[in-house]
Amino acid sequence: MRIAVVGTGYVGLVTGTCFADSGNNVVCLDINADKIARLNRGEIPIYEPGLEELVVRSARAGRLTFSTDTAAGIRAAEIVFLAVGTPPAADGSADLTSLWNVVDAIAPHLDPRAVIVTKSTVPVGTCAGIERRLKERTGRDCLVASNPEFLKEGAAIEDFQKPDRVVVGVRTAAVGDVLKSLYQPFLRTEHPFLVMSPESSEMTKYVANALLSTKISFINEVANLCERMEADIDDVRRGIGHDSRIGFAFLFPGVGYGGSCFPKDVQALASMARDKGVPARILTAVHETNLAQKQVLGTKIAAHFGGDLAGRRIAVWGLAFKPRTDDVRDAPALDLLERLLAGGARVTVYDPEAMDNVRAIHGDRIAYAATPMDALDGAECLAIMTEWGDFRRPDFDEMARRMQSRTIFDGRNLYSRAEMRARGFSYTSIGRAPV
Ligand SMILES: NC(=O)c1ccc[n+]([C@@H]2O[C@H](COP(=O)([O-])OP(=O)(O)OC[C@H]3O[C@@H](n4cnc5c(N)ncnc54)[C@H](O)[C@@H]3O)[C@@H](O)[C@H]2O)c1
Repeated sequence: MRIAVVGTGYVGLVTGTCFADSGNNVVCLDINADKIARLNRGEIPIYEPGLEELVVRSARAGRLTFSTDTAAGIRAAEIVFLAVGTPPAADGSADLTSLWNVVDAIAPHLDPRAVIVTKSTVPVGTCAGIERRLKERTGRDCLVASNPEFLKEGAAIEDFQKPDRVVVGVRTAAVGDVLKSLYQPFLRTEHPFLVMSPESSEMTKYVANALLSTKISFINEVANLCERMEADIDDVRRGIGHDSRIGFAFLFPGVGYGGSCFPKDVQALASMARDKGVPARILTAVHETNLAQKQVLGTKIAAHFGGDLAGRRIAVWGLAFKPRTDDVRDAPALDLLERLLAGGARVTVYDPEAMDNVRAIHGDRIAYAATPMDALDGAECLAIMTEWGDFRRPDFDEMARRMQSRTIFDGRNLYSRAEMRARGFSYTSIGRAPV
């Protein structure tokens, strides 16, 4: 099939690349000329395991191209995926400015038989809005479908090629069939292809992210309580997880969720509820709990230094909002850095992939170490913000030698309290008594 993907960010690039890899002809479009130029030179603008190899292979085979020329890219396309960003507006609702710009830009160039598919996460009713807008612009009924994306950054290729499920929202069975044949190569393991209305499909994406966020805020809230009750959240997790109705997934306490999706999607769903006059008490609490959780480790560090961070030498391991990505959008580490810098601390950071993205925000207000151990030289404490594999089994003896004080604030509960005690570290984590 001939496919155009409009918006070549995380989702657009992965979508376009995976469809090209399965034999389609794909053009990835973007208004960011620098990004397109880099892609045309074979440079991948994001860190995502496995992506580069697939991009290079499909580009060499001539099945994957990159362009800023939307009109030319759209004209030949049988399927047009919309994958632009839908960031939060000031009131928490989804800002659809980019999406409407794209709809207006593509309208004059669409083949009348083309199917337009929203991959962006968009509020319920957006598909219907696109149908209306395209009718106004083109004078005819256009085929518009919803196909939310469930990939996880850090495992995006795997998720796209072996999805738990594919959800499509369509008005006619024929459009469902077109999308099913496109996805067929990824459904060989009998994972379901679920067809529903565009409204249910749009809602499905928000409900999935809201429920995952709810699990995180829930476990964080009870973790904070465990600390005060002399209970250990790790034991409690084991105690509940074996119940098949509860399970273990997504119930890890930490420093709050970040990234470009959960925070904005929880707020956008709450905003839809507000618009309809439906109470969204849980969603509001999930969001507020998360904002508070992002401050928890900073509060513990500040208390350790008697409330005065001025001149304190603090090392931070992990900047990305989760491992295996360089994405720092809404990352808890950014909240911690703001707080440490506002208090006058001297901060040295290390992250295997995300340092350039943080350098773009903080420049030389902080120092960037070449290795995790280099970040520790002379540090009075270490804060761990991302659970990268690199941090799970460090050389604790070398850490002790390099640090001014053996003090760790672990926002990801990576280490055993007993081992930390035995090694003479002062060790503070989440939902467990400090050592
Ligand atoms: N990142 C994720 O893990 C993820 C997962 C599932 C769903 N989503 C959803 O997918 C959508 C895209 O997210 P993302 O993380 O890929 O965003 P992104 O910011 O990485 O990429 C968006 C791209 O769209 C481009 N763009 C903006 N306006 C344009 C226009 N008029 N014409 C062409 N290109 C334009 C931007 O330059 C950018 O490259 C969002 O709605 C997001 O909620 C994201």
